[in-house]
Amino acid sequence: MKWTEYVIRCIFVVVSLCSYNHRVNTLDNGLLRQPPMGWLTWQRFRCVTNCQEDPDTCISENLIRTQAQLLVQGGYLAAGYEYIIIDDCWLSTARAPNGSLQPDSKRFPSGIRALADYVHSLGLKLGIYEDYGTETCGGYPGSLGHLEQDAKTFADWTVDYLKLDGCYADIKDFDTGYPAMEHALNATGFPIAFSCSWPAYQEFSKMKPNYTAIAQTCNLWRNWDDIDDSWESVYTILQWFGDNQDRLSPFHGPGHWNDPDMIVVGNYGLSPGQSRAQMALWSIMAAPLILSVDLRTISSWARDIILNKNLIAINQDPLGAMGRRILQLNDHVEIWSKPLLDDRVAFVALYPEPYGTPIHLSVNLTDLGLIRYQDYNFFESFYGSFLGKYHYTDKYNFTINPSGDVHAFYVESATPRKRFHKNLQKI
Ligand SMILES: *[C@@H]1O[C@H](CO)[C@@H](O)[C@H](O)[C@H]1NC(C)=O
Ligand SMILES: *[C@@H]1O[C@H](CO)[C@@H](O)[C@H](O)[C@H]1NC(C)=O
Ligand SMILES: *[C@@H]1O[C@H](CO)[C@@H](O)[C@H](O)[C@H]1NC(C)=O
Repeated sequence: MKWTEYVIRCIFVVVSLCSYNHRVNTLDNGLLRQPPMGWLTWQRFRCVTNCQEDPDTCISENLIRTQAQLLVQGGYLAAGYEYIIIDDCWLSTARAPNGSLQPDSKRFPSGIRALADYVHSLGLKLGIYEDYGTETCGGYPGSLGHLEQDAKTFADWTVDYLKLDGCYADIKDFDTGYPAMEHALNATGFPIAFSCSWPAYQEFSKMKPNYTAIAQTCNLWRNWDDIDDSWESVYTILQWFGDNQDRLSPFHGPGHWNDPDMIVVGNYGLSPGQSRAQMALWSIMAAPLILSVDLRTISSWARDIILNKNLIAINQDPLGAMGRRILQLNDHVEIWSKPLLDDRVAFVALYPEPYGTPIHLSVNLTDLGLIRYQDYNFFESFYGSFLGKYHYTDKYNFTINPSGDVHAFYVESATPRKRFHKNLQKI
């Protein structure tokens, strides 16, 4: 190999080691060593509380029980989606006389402990929502002044996951407030995964979140905007993560995850191509895969995307590396990549433009960072089909459909070597 190639390879190896082996001292509750997978009420069911008008979609124990059953029957739990999480609007408007939180008694007549028992009996885990401030975003009682009491209540109810929002609070208090809640959760002795909204509020206020402290406190944290049911929302969030990847990725890894918010596949807003894109790109980012969809009415094509074994394996890869946007080409095509175990690499090329016809592209393997081995085998990610063997000096040619579809693929060295990652299906 020429000395210039040698230098390029060496630089690539050093950069790779620096980006992906960065160690931070992080929360050590043993939970969420892989990005969490589950289902959450918010994006699809919001704060519907009038069960007279909307008996099937109001936030209630009926809704949770029904969706929990479908998580099991539909194969979602078997695919890894194990948390069922109640977002805002489950609480009674007042605390009990002894100060304890209590659910709305009409919508949750059996109480949260009974709901947790039911969810656990199905093999699922239960998540719940509260807020660090005086009120939740929906106006229900917040945890300020009751952190320890509320942590104990959640532990008594055997809640497995807490999403703690940041409405009606002084954002500057988060740096002490969220760690105080983590301390209170830890003191219960009951393992509760902790999802924080701490940096999201601070990023919006142009403060600089202390991600070192956040990763010491939270298992996952929302960094940015709430997702809505549209491609514009998905794309805007993706761009924000791409633009900020250098500052975010060092804090991302087993037990502590950046969270670009829910998967909205299966609702009203995304085309099939855009749905493939969200699932593939969230997998590349090693993002939490938290669905928010009505499992009673989801289409089979959306279900197939959500349950795709190869994409889930890429998302759940034990390295836990946060994928990065590595190239931005003409026509706003961008390529993201994520290193996987055993020197394999996953890629997603996204074509957002609505120019009506598929785009044909040609990319040097060297521009994809594929310079560690002589030859690579390429596989399509959704189906696992073999796409060909390429030398590292070759170009890779591919086609992407317009309007937010993707071409997703993964590569491995073509030289016979170690076992394949056991989770990745191969046809
Ligand atoms: C507080 O009151 C609620 C509602 O009456 C009850 O369920 C709960 O067990 C009480 N908590 C404590 C710690 O006594
Ligand atoms: C509490 O924190 C300690 C020290 O980080 C950790 O070993 C333990 O697992 C935590 N316990 C719970 C219940 O989170
Ligand atoms: C960020 O948090 C870490 C860990 O708590 C702390 O050591 C550090 O001083 C904080 N940095 C700033 C700028 O406050």
